[in-house]
Amino acid sequence: MKPIDVARTAARTAGDILQDYFQSGVQMRTKSASVDLVSDADVNAERAIASVIQAAFPDHSILGEEENSDSVEATDLWIVDPLDGTTNFAHGVPHFAVSIGYYVNGKAELGVVYNPMTADWYVAQAGQGAWHNERAIHVSDDRDLSTSLLGTGFFYDRGDMMRATLAAIDRLFQQQIHGIRRFGTASLDLAMVASGQLAGFFEYQLCPWDFAAGRLLIEEAGGRVSTCDGRIPPLDKTSFCATNGHIHEQVLQHVRLR
Ligand code: IPD
Ligand code: CA
Ligand code: CA
Repeated sequence: MKPIDVARTAARTAGDILQDYFQSGVQMRTKSASVDLVSDADVNAERAIASVIQAAFPDHSILGEEENSDSVEATDLWIVDPLDGTTNFAHGVPHFAVSIGYYVNGKAELGVVYNPMTADWYVAQAGQGAWHNERAIHVSDDRDLSTSLLGTGFFYDRGDMMRATLAAIDRLFQQQIHGIRRFGTASLDLAMVASGQLAGFFEYQLCPWDFAAGRLLIEEAGGRVSTCDGRIPPLDKTSFCATNGHIHEQVLQHVRLR
């Protein structure tokens, strides 16, 4: 099987597991002393993804949010969020996704973001464009913040990072943006930038599994990604800014940490 077929099979298998748990209900628990939720759904979906990948490519490495912690230095690396949008999932909001990125020598080759509740597939392959289901997608054409709809996220912080996010939102509103949304699933937020629904997105902390697939979607759809201070995002915990490219510098002006 080709990596794209493996990624799709793994995402569909995980998506079926998530749908079952979503319908039947699952006990949520918090990760150590935080508001970050996890459940058997997250863990079992990641196990299913890992077994599909390992069956196809026994020598590849996996970095997943829950259980797989191979090094980002690995030559062939799959970066997996088995359930992105856990808080939505826990509260019965059907807006969550499986996110799978495949990296070779640190470079994104393939990204798949799948919402099992709506059967929306976002797929990108390096040099081959980005797709939403059967349709090629492109970032929006907005040239100015004053015509832009943006997205953001809050990570799980309730302190300085949350306050910095609120301050940046305030500054952006002063630029007469059309609005700013917090949908709660970073991989889908990035897919929405890639498909032109959002002109830009920023968050002060994402993990590699949140953006591994979405980053390639945006680049292949003609957009731009960076950290919130304009650097190339590392495959690590990082701030993240993603836009259609045209408004990137304008967004950075307001989200750069001060
Ligand atoms: C979270 C979601 C959320 C974002 C957080 C992520 P999780 O992922 O993507 O939108 O704001 O920073 O951690 O915990 O639901 O997999
Ligand atoms: Ca996530
Ligand atoms: Ca997750």
